Amino acid sequence: MQKINQWHQFDTATQVADAVCEQIILSAKQAITEKDNFKIVLAGGSTPEKIYQRLAKAKTDWSKWMIYYGDERCLPADDKERNSIMASDALLSKVDIPPSNIYTMPTEFGAVEAAEKYRQIIDIVDQFDMVLLGMGEDGHTASLFPGHQHNQEETVHEVYNSPKPPSNRITLSAKILSNARQLIFIVTGESKCNPVKQWKQGIDLPVASISPSSGVDIYIDNAAIG
Ligand code: 6PG
Repeated sequence: MQKINQWHQFDTATQVADAVCEQIILSAKQAITEKDNFKIVLAGGSTPEKIYQRLAKAKTDWSKWMIYYGDERCLPADDKERNSIMASDALLSKVDIPPSNIYTMPTEFGAVEAAEKYRQIIDIVDQFDMVLLGMGEDGHTASLFPGHQHNQEETVHEVYNSPKPPSNRITLSAKILSNARQLIFIVTGESKCNPVKQWKQGIDLPVASISPSSGVDIYIDNAAIG
């Protein structure tokens, strides 16, 4: 059962991006002060791009950032449709994060091998400081899709027959995504109205399966509220 949902509503997607960027920088400052590193899971899709572009201009100690991904599409390493390429173009290629601190999901080797490799990386993470997630029009998040069954013992799932192309992906499990000090959903645009309504009604969507102990923060614009 999802714990408290904090809804943060803004007039525009630009204001959502500004607010989320500010929150991430604050979270990074606190984590770096406390433990000399900041572990963040990046969201895929198109919504986070504005946030990553703003982050690239922010003042923070990039050398302490550790980058993980919530999911990745099974595509060649340099394919423009990859979440890692969007993050690299918008942020990672513009800031001085040590390359050894960027944990890209190696999905160019296919879902089975990529999931096996990423499980080894995730197994040594005690907790993420920040997890960013988007939401699809069917209420999916990362690559956790409605109706897909996964082995709940797994930390990283292989995904086949994804309703959102490409069909093959890998994704962190709901349990691993929930292992976060702070978790932010970024939801903008009128195409998300329906799943937002269903989410608020308590319908059992993949977004509702994400339940960090501190609850979730949902940053949303007026268009997505409907
Ligand atoms: C992906 C994402 C996916 C995305 C949602 C929202 O690989 O596509 O991980 O979960 O976050 O589908 O996508 P948009 O931000 O493009 O609406």
